[in-house]
Order: sequence, then structure tokens, then C-alpha cells
Amino acid sequence: MTRDSGPELETEETLEAQVTGTDSAIEDAVPSQPASPEGGGPAADGGPAPGGEPATAEKPSPGADASAEPPVLSVRGLHVAFRARHGRGRALAVDGVDLDIAPGEIVALVGESGCGKSTLARALTGLVVPTSGQVLHDGEPVSYKPRALKAYRRGVQLVLQDPTGALNPRRTVYEAVAEGLRIHGKSALGAFGDERAKVADALSRAGLRPPERFMALHPHQLSGGQRQRVVIAGALVLDPEVLVADEPVASLDASVRGEILKLLLDLRDAAGLSALVVTHDLGLAWNIADRVAVMYLGRVVETGTVEEVLTDPKHPYTKALLSVVAESGTEPVILSGETPDSAAIPAGCRFHPRCPLLASGEAERLGIADRCRTVDPAPPAAEGRHAACHAVAVPDTAA
Ligand SMILES: Nc1ncnc2c1ncn2[C@@H]1O[C@H](COP(=O)(O)OP(=O)(O)O)[C@@H](O)[C@H]1O
Ligand code: SF4
Ligand SMILES: [Mg+2]
Repeated sequence: MTRDSGPELETEETLEAQVTGTDSAIEDAVPSQPASPEGGGPAADGGPAPGGEPATAEKPSPGADASAEPPVLSVRGLHVAFRARHGRGRALAVDGVDLDIAPGEIVALVGESGCGKSTLARALTGLVVPTSGQVLHDGEPVSYKPRALKAYRRGVQLVLQDPTGALNPRRTVYEAVAEGLRIHGKSALGAFGDERAKVADALSRAGLRPPERFMALHPHQLSGGQRQRVVIAGALVLDPEVLVADEPVASLDASVRGEILKLLLDLRDAAGLSALVVTHDLGLAWNIADRVAVMYLGRVVETGTVEEVLTDPKHPYTKALLSVVAESGTEPVILSGETPDSAAIPAGCRFHPRCPLLASGEAERLGIADRCRTVDPAPPAAEGRHAACHAVAVPDTAA
């Protein structure tokens, strides 16, 4: 596969190569507008701290009023559909998402496995072409022409969950980090002018100091945490504006998770790096994020600051997620109903087959039960405090 070819089907192998910067292939989603559950476009209608850390854990201070700045990265009306893996039809992995990431802001994208987090992350990094909708960089739509895409992807780097899989076991740390530089040519060296100095700087920024000690090592000679730092150095060497980290600590021992999260926070504080951190761990979101977007079956269903969403959840799905966190102090809400399937998104509110409010009769009492079953709640706007639920009227704090 060459950089000049058009969109090609991505394989795990090519994705791995892309993370370390060896290829720029992108995955082609189903090239047609997915139907909304209501058939009328994507929108039809208008506690306690989480676990992972003690409930009373002090929140890290967010970037300097990040939300006041124009977003560095946005998605608008984003849809990504795939041919369903099993059987016929299409999987609507991302089904109408608006989201902004401001300069210096860390946004956590949380939700159960299969809800579309990785697909959204890959669309943000240009690895997946949206079926419809847009990814915008500094307000400009991203171009999928090879040259423009290459430049875009230099600035928006993906860090995956498994550093062992992301690193070639036969290559040294130096080669792994230098790879992206070689792809992007001299301009990527910036003021350094010298590849070795640039690699050393990236390793240092990723916390591998002194960098010379690590350059000649191979992945098997490193700890899991060090391997993830090498992957992060491979991203940092290209001076990105945004890191998109897909479950960046999920494969690491608990003892080193905090170190990697602190590294991401330090990078934000020192260099103003923005990040989308994909996680199913609400405790991690609490410790690292400025804002949280909760995703369910292809759609963001609740957004707000981390304090708003995790201490005062509005959407029944967010409440259920939080209720099973050990420190929540609330009765765990066990969701019933069918396992969500992105190839069969329910009509009305997509959460309605599992919604405790509907099951308990509370939705009936509120007079919204019919709407729950037939009207798709409006998805949250890209910023501010929102929940896509007929039962809640969350004040819209967006401008
Ligand atoms: N390449 C693909 N082909 C077909 N279906 C896919 C593909 N990638 C993801 N999906 C489907 O899209 C949905 C969302 O997947 P994913 O984005 O990986 O979710 P998450 O990261 O939240 O676990 C799932 O139903 C998954 O099976
Ligand atoms: S809209 Fe209805 S079914 Fe959906 S989450 Fe709200 S109460 Fe539950
Ligand atoms: Mg995933």
C-alpha cells in the first residue's frame, strides 16, 4: 500500500503500522447515508464520584478555561457504517455524533464495549472515512486526499491500548520513534534539524530519561509502561496538536497506569496538548478529563464537565454505569434487555429496551413512555451540558 493510493480496506496489520507511522491507509466505511432510527435524520427531538480512585480524590485542574477556545478538533453529524460482520445489513458504529475538543482540553469518551468509541477515535485520526458528517480541524473540514490526509494525521496522533502489539519486536526503540519522522520528511525535524536529537527529545518528553539509555533497546527489554511511553514518544516526535488515546492504560498493570495518565496530564500542561481519551473506566475519566462524553450504541448520550457528568449524571445509562462503580454508594443498576447491536439499533430512544425508567413504570408516570419507544431524543450538542433523554430537561449551557 502506498501513500498515494486512495482509501483502502484497513487490516489489523496496517493499523498497527499506521500507529508507528509506516502507512497511511484508511478504512472505507459503507459509502451511503445511514438511515436514522426515525427515518428523519439523526436528530428527531429536541451523586457520587466514580471509582478507580477514592470517591473523594481531588480533581486535577483542567487546562486554562479550555472550553472558551475554538475547538482544535470537532465532529459534526458524524456517521460511520460498516457492513455488518455477521449476516446482512449495516452496523452503525457511529450514528450521529457532534463533539468538540478545545486546545489543551482532555475529553474522555466512555461507554460499554461495542458502543463505537474506537470507530469514533479512528475517524478522528483519519483512519476511517465517515459515511456522512464531518471531521473538522481548526474549523476546516478534513480532506481525505492523500497529501492533505498525511499532513492532518501528523497533527492528530493515535495511541492504542496495547503497546506490545503496536511495536515491532525486531526494531529498536530508536527506530520505532524515528519511523514517523522518516515518513514525514525533513519538515518534521523542525528546529532540531537532526533526527537523533529529535528522537531523544521525544523520548525525554515521554519520560524515558536519559533517552540514550533506551534508544538501542528492543521492546522485550522494556516494561509494559516503558513500551507505552515509547509508543507515546512515537506520537510526540511529530509534535501533534491532539493525541487520540484508545484505552491507553487498559493493558497495563495498575501500578503503572497512574504514571501514564500523569504523563498525559503533564503533556497537556507543558505543551497545551489536547486529547481524546477513550476508556470504559469512569475512575480514569475522573482523574484525567476536563469533559466527558458518554456513548451508547453509536451515539453520545450525555456530555458535560467531568464533575457535572460523574457527580450528577442525568441520563439513565450514565446513572447505570456509575452505579456499578464500587465507590458510588448507590444500589447497582443491572441493565436488562438485549445486548446492544449496532446492526439493529432500536427505534425511538436507542436505550429504551434496557432503560430502568421505562421498565419500572417511571417513564409511564412521567407521560413519556410512548415517546421513549418512538421518538429518538436529540443527540447532545458538541459542547455544554446535555443528555439525550426525554425524562430530563438539562439546562443548555452552550453558547
Ligand atoms: N471494521 C468493522 N467492520 C464491521 N463492523 C465493525 C467494524 N469495526 C467496528 N465494527 C462494529 O461497530 C461497533 C462499534 O465498534 P467499536 O468502535 O470497536 O466499539 P468500542 O471501541 O466502543 O468497543 C461494533 O458493533 C463493532 O462490531
Ligand atoms: S428517553 Fe426514555 S427510554 Fe430513553 S433514556 Fe430517557 S427515559 Fe429511558
Ligand atoms: Mg474499542
